[in-house]
Amino acid sequence: MSSRTTAALILAAGRGERLGADKALVELGGRTAVERLVRNFRAAGCAPIVIVRQRGAAALPADLAATIVEVDSEEMVESLRCGLRAWTDDPPRSLLVTPIDHAMVGASTIFQLENELRTAGDSQAVVLPICRGRPGHPVGLTWNVAVEALDPEVTSLREIIRRDSDRNRPVFVEDGWTRRDLDRPEDLDAARGHLAGLVPATELMARHRSRRSFLPKPVGDAQLSWIVDSARHASTSSFVQAYSVVAVRDPERKRRFAELCADQAHVHEAPIVLAICADLHRLAEACARHGAVLESDSLESFVQATVDAAILGQNIQLAAESESLGSCMIGAARNHPVELAELLGLPPHVYVVFGMTLGWPAGDPLPRTRMPLEAVLHLETYDVSRTEAVLDAADASMRADSRAANARLAAGERPVNETRGWTDRMAYLFRAPNPPKGREHLLAALRARGFGLRDPEQRGTDRVPGA
Ligand SMILES: Cc1cc2nc3c(=O)[nH]c(=O)nc-3n(C[C@H](O)[C@H](O)[C@H](O)COP(=O)(O)O)c2cc1C
Repeated sequence: MSSRTTAALILAAGRGERLGADKALVELGGRTAVERLVRNFRAAGCAPIVIVRQRGAAALPADLAATIVEVDSEEMVESLRCGLRAWTDDPPRSLLVTPIDHAMVGASTIFQLENELRTAGDSQAVVLPICRGRPGHPVGLTWNVAVEALDPEVTSLREIIRRDSDRNRPVFVEDGWTRRDLDRPEDLDAARGHLAGLVPATELMARHRSRRSFLPKPVGDAQLSWIVDSARHASTSSFVQAYSVVAVRDPERKRRFAELCADQAHVHEAPIVLAICADLHRLAEACARHGAVLESDSLESFVQATVDAAILGQNIQLAAESESLGSCMIGAARNHPVELAELLGLPPHVYVVFGMTLGWPAGDPLPRTRMPLEAVLHLETYDVSRTEAVLDAADASMRADSRAANARLAAGERPVNETRGWTDRMAYLFRAPNPPKGREHLLAALRARGFGLRDPEQRGTDRVPGA
């Protein structure tokens, strides 16, 4: 008897033309998409499960423990009706319905939705997962609402959802796969990347390495948006959100971007280059709205916006790595701040703090060993007595990293100098007088972008025209 249960209805009758494959049968984490979804519905206590397939479509795995019904139409609403008819003799109390596109939705999300349907009991209810303010799938329907779809006048599930907002019950979820679907090959790559990156956050951080070689494979728009949307939940000073990101894919603009970043080969190669910007533009406009002028000239405003942008950038890199993408931050984006700002159409009060490549990584570079933790973590007060030992250790680990890198060199690659440690490299790079190469005019460039970088008593002198 199914009458007091929450059933599940999986709509898998599409041809998957944009994906170029039968969505139900694509591999996700060692099993097919349909097996994954059925398993998660079962884990959340949903039964029975009905799957709607196109007549004549490829057979599903034999041991699915689900009822398969066939439909002739390509219309989603016909699939819905066809699935519902499978239960008309013995209807469930309620059901969760999803297109196979949302096969990545987790069991705990389904459990949350099922729980809400259970609470709804025999009332009329539409249960909607809301992720970051937007609805997704699966949609929960009590049976007395679901039958409305049997009316041939109904053209979509959305129509039923919109019919009476009083019966809609939002369930707030964090599971992005309620909204992210498997529509294109890039989406499938993103889903597989996500599964491969499912490790605790601390492990993910320790796994980090900058990636400077990429596969010739695109990163989808949906994945890019999801990553930046996730990253922007970072802390932000005074809730200013003084950052923005410009994502560049256009080959010509990307070529110029790379040229301005010391012509680094991996910046040319990456499918996407992000400009991570410190952004006081919105703040200036907010002040103008209220008849005020933004105090953008102070060193503090500059630091605040730069810190905000850097935190966002780190979050983006981590979010990307959690989906198995690779990236490398590009400080060389500060070599020509004015030209880069022009290329990206940045308004005044915005500058690129650093760039960041993004792509599917190729190869497997060795990690770079950090100096000992004692160098970084001090308890209660800073302990300078450790510095000598720490510097010795930093030298030794950099030499060891160099030896390991040279041992794996491919033919034609240049070996690194194994005798040089961290201290002599740093002394070479940072000795005075030695303006950082490529950044000799950084102060003037930042001022041209509208960041005065002045102490408070210098305020108002020599303001930037137009900024
Ligand atoms: C703000 C910033 C700017 C960077 N700029 C560049 C760059 O222009 N080119 C590059 O190849 N690597 C760049 N890097 C990457 C560093 O070289 C790299 O993080 C460091 O050597 C440690 O290696 P790992 O990231 O693989 O652990 C940058 C890193 C940061 C944080």
